[in-house]
Amino acid sequence: MTATLEFQGQTKALIATGWVSPASSYPLTSPSTGQVIAQVADCGVTEANLALEATVTAFETWRNTTAYERSALMKKWFALMVRDEQEIARMIALEMGKPVSEALGEVRYAASFIEWYAEEAKRVYGEIIPSQFGHKRLFASKHPVGPVYAVTPWNFPAAMLTRKVGPALAAGCTFVLKPAEQSPLTALKLAELWLEAGGAAGVFQVLPCADPIALSKVFMEDSRIRKITFTGSTEVGRILTKQSADTLKRVSMELGGHAPFIVFDDADIEQAVKDVVACKFRNAGQTCVCTNRVYVQRGILEVFTAKFASAVSGLKVGDSLDPSTQIGPLVDAQGLAKVKTHVADALLHGATAVTGGSALEGLYFQPTVLAGVTEDMLVMREETFGPVAPVIAFDTEAEVLHAANNTPFGLAAYVWTKDLSRAVRVSEKLEYGIVGLNDPIPSTAQAPFGGIKQSGFGREGGHFGLEEYLYVKYVSMVI
Ligand code: SIN
Repeated sequence: MTATLEFQGQTKALIATGWVSPASSYPLTSPSTGQVIAQVADCGVTEANLALEATVTAFETWRNTTAYERSALMKKWFALMVRDEQEIARMIALEMGKPVSEALGEVRYAASFIEWYAEEAKRVYGEIIPSQFGHKRLFASKHPVGPVYAVTPWNFPAAMLTRKVGPALAAGCTFVLKPAEQSPLTALKLAELWLEAGGAAGVFQVLPCADPIALSKVFMEDSRIRKITFTGSTEVGRILTKQSADTLKRVSMELGGHAPFIVFDDADIEQAVKDVVACKFRNAGQTCVCTNRVYVQRGILEVFTAKFASAVSGLKVGDSLDPSTQIGPLVDAQGLAKVKTHVADALLHGATAVTGGSALEGLYFQPTVLAGVTEDMLVMREETFGPVAPVIAFDTEAEVLHAANNTPFGLAAYVWTKDLSRAVRVSEKLEYGIVGLNDPIPSTAQAPFGGIKQSGFGREGGHFGLEEYLYVKYVSMVI
């Protein structure tokens, strides 16, 4: 594996009026090489209190800007992201291990949220409601909910940030971000571009930290923070939701998934194989919406599994900065340990690795296809978040629907079939927030993204995402 040290040095945090150096820092290592790539500003309670006051103050100004002013600023920010897309992609690859070619796709996807919400900012309309009385006029208008505290994950360090900050800023909210410990550099780079675009530091603040509990508490306990938005594990989402109850904040939670990928025997097999590889193995399987379990109708099981394994065995594993790499490392030792546990459990209970099945040197794991799995194995019950695809047979539509829905999670599900009636029937019965019908990557800026059940609540993307940052005020007037 090649070693590249590009970001050595000490980062700062963006708080209140500009860049701040907290008293301490923590080392950030590259998952590809294990080398320290930066010393990251480690914010604590002192910095959190500064940011809290700054976001509350900045809200009074920002909320009163026009949508056209916010839109113009966001468009400049978008243009700078596009200008620096190669640099941001390398940063993502370096800090969290996503292959650089894929990271470039993420940067474009991330920037598209800023562009889309810059446009949508101008379309926050109210309503005039007819009254039953001639002497009354009824109006409904939309307003920013207030300062927002956001916690974003490491798996999409750019896109999960812009999918939140885009609609928040468009709505007129101010925004404090605690980026994932593993991927603060991308967020800091986007903050630098925000300042370059002419944005005020108090409107969008970034506070990296190694241990978020004490820092988060400052924002969670203060009633002036009106909204919390989180993407990450169901476990942490549950804690933040409970913490938000005391001050009754608006809450958006984008949590874990356990996506089924269902292939019926009338599907285009070649296409389904290509698509399951794209769906499962992007970001080395570390994506909330990537499939975690592949259901194949019995008649095509053998041929599908053989073609799937052959495609997966050809995936190139390597350093995330190598442009030819398709599968990078897991993000950290904990991520790798989970993958190893899931695969070991499956093999112990009778599954076979049709391809892969083993860890490699460092944080790498072979892209793996498992056959002979059963529903009680860990890989079929929990999100693996790694490059492992268990394949299981089914016979009937009813049987596969039962299996697909038999989980506490409900983020994304996928169906491959050429039968239009079946496609509609099955997608209607799937208890999921997102369904990909012959589409392995349905996410896009203008569409709603989010789950049901223990995958969370609230929607990001499209006009649905903007509503999460707005409240409705009703005015009744006697004339
Ligand atoms: C996620 O893993 O939550 C994001 C994936 C996507 O936007 O498609």
